Amino acid sequence: MADRTNSVMTRVQQRAQWTGRKVGRGLRRKLMLNRLTARSMTRRAALVGPPEQWATQRRFQFEFLTSHGLQPEHRLLDIGCGTLRGGIPLIEYLHAGNYTGVEVRAAVLDEARKELAESGLDHKDPVLIHAEDPSQVQSAEPFDFVWAFMVLIHMPDEVVDAYLRLVSQRMTEGGEFYANVALGDRGEDQWQGFPVVFRPREFYQRSASAHGLSMSEVGALGSLGPSIEVGRHTMMLRFTHASRAQASQA
Ligand SMILES: C[S@@+](CC[C@H](N)C(=O)[O-])C[C@H]1O[C@@H](n2cnc3c(N)ncnc32)[C@H](O)[C@@H]1O
Repeated sequence: MADRTNSVMTRVQQRAQWTGRKVGRGLRRKLMLNRLTARSMTRRAALVGPPEQWATQRRFQFEFLTSHGLQPEHRLLDIGCGTLRGGIPLIEYLHAGNYTGVEVRAAVLDEARKELAESGLDHKDPVLIHAEDPSQVQSAEPFDFVWAFMVLIHMPDEVVDAYLRLVSQRMTEGGEFYANVALGDRGEDQWQGFPVVFRPREFYQRSASAHGLSMSEVGALGSLGPSIEVGRHTMMLRFTHASRAQASQA
């Protein structure tokens, strides 16, 4: 977008030279503002991943959750909500007050609030929580859906375990928690100061079962969203209350 604004600016300036006219102040200001907006949008997008995948990853999150049963009346907890890349269409879709986002970086949550206001969605009253620890996440009512997109891969083991405990305590009996993880034993990488953690599937199974949850694999992320560019080891997991899985087997 910045490139496009630049080339429009150049074309306008060229035409002004040919016709001997000055570029109007208003138009110049508008083009500059567009350029600034494009730059700040790219900067905000980069806080949660590659800007060129921003739109795809926003669309994927909405399509995945709504195709897995998320209804407007449901209450959703979005762990590691970032700048609301996935959050905005979900906030728009859900009834007012039914979206809760948790984010560990205060500056990123500030950007999320700007994104919310710029999207004209303040009236949807989402709950945005700055929390380093799941024990800081309070809610009066339980959640029907819990979502963690590209997030558990950046958490240390004990934080993942603490979030699974929170899910087991704060998710409705029929609720569902979806999270993508990197499976395997590859060495750790880094992303914006966070680790990128690969873990064996048994880690999630053990932690889930310690908190009374049952875990299953939904599929490799690449097979769920055709244009999502992530490592081929990235798997979408589904967690439900173990009692629910046992009841459906009986
Ligand atoms: C790759 S971004 C994804 C953001 C968002 N889920 C999305 O898809 O647009 C990962 C986010 O998780 C946040 N995060 C990392 N560790 C966290 C923690 N312990 N608690 C809450 N958020 C965390 C990061 O700050 C970052 O904004």
